[in-house]
Amino acid sequence: MRPNFFHHLHPPTIPTQQSRWRYTLGAGGTAVFLLFVLAITGMLEMFYYIPTPEQAALSVQTITYHVPLGALIRNTHYWAAQLLLIVMAVHFVRVVMTGAYRPPRRFNYLLGLVLFVVVVLLNFTGYILRWDQGIQWALVVGTNLLKTIPAVGDTLYTMLIGGSQPGSATLIRFYAWHIFGLGLVAVFFTGWHIFRVRRDGGIAVPPPRLREDDARITRFELVQREVLAMILIIAALFILAGFVPAPIDAPIEQITTLANDASAPWFFLWVQQMLKWGDPFLWGIVAPSVLLLVLVLLPYVLPQPQESELGRWFPRSNRLARWSLVVVSALIIILTLMALLPGV
Ligand code: HEM
Repeated sequence: MRPNFFHHLHPPTIPTQQSRWRYTLGAGGTAVFLLFVLAITGMLEMFYYIPTPEQAALSVQTITYHVPLGALIRNTHYWAAQLLLIVMAVHFVRVVMTGAYRPPRRFNYLLGLVLFVVVVLLNFTGYILRWDQGIQWALVVGTNLLKTIPAVGDTLYTMLIGGSQPGSATLIRFYAWHIFGLGLVAVFFTGWHIFRVRRDGGIAVPPPRLREDDARITRFELVQREVLAMILIIAALFILAGFVPAPIDAPIEQITTLANDASAPWFFLWVQQMLKWGDPFLWGIVAPSVLLLVLVLLPYVLPQPQESELGRWFPRSNRLARWSLVVVSALIIILTLMALLPGV
């Protein structure tokens, strides 16, 4: 049989240690599968979604209430997107907490971070596509942050919005970014990322001379585990989609002032909270960029985990990187909770 991408990802046998749920949590594979579900359900939604300010929210309501299986497809798309953010964060935490970013996987860590940013942007652009009352904070405050960037801010804003204020050009641009621009980038980087996983020798475990456990599983057993995971994910998605509908509000009539309860999507609540402290450029652009930079630099400036300590959680040798991640995560979680509490 000719070698292909599937064979590249599934060699005849792999060390059992690389396939343990309790080590990988299956989070990277789950993220790939969720992206696949998002692509299929998103394509189905495109048959009915209309990207104009007058029709967008109404067409989403049509999908939800009138199209056969429309609610299931839309809710599945919505929940797969929320779960992807969580699963991706879990995968990221796993990579840092096991020291799996150690060379030769440092470059793949960067590819992963690019994917992280792209997936957040995909979620943000998808959220705007609802064009209902609920998205106004993101549309007005979120996009206005661009204007605060010195020298290029106004140009960036006009390019993104398609004019001097949000309108029909904005919606069509977000639509194009969501489906085409960011979608293609996500497919490209996911392919590259999982190609690199195998190129770097598969999931990080100690080299054979340092390995305590020499057991291996076959390609067939690996695929069996993957299929089981896919069935469980589909079941979880359908349960969520069946019981908890995706939000949709009344269409936006005029984007003028913001309601008091206007709020960012949940994954940007921490930024919304920081914006209450004043300077939007400092808190809305500089602070999140600094946090991202800290994550980019983790594998480059902090002590590396030792080879012998790979393949398990919390290697002593990368304690500093682990604590840095704990601090960044705690900050984001505390800010999110503060944004949820009224009056803070
Ligand atoms: C949509 C986002 C992502 C997808 C689809 C994805 C997918 C995967 C898959 C399938 C694997 C192999 C299985 C596993 O380790 O669970 C993997 C491994 C890896 N990923 Fe990701 N990933 C994503 C985001 C990230 C992020 C945000 C990072 C970190 C910045 C990252 C860094 C890595 C590294 C370093 C490995 C190798 C781990 C090891 O050898 O133990 N990935 N990824």
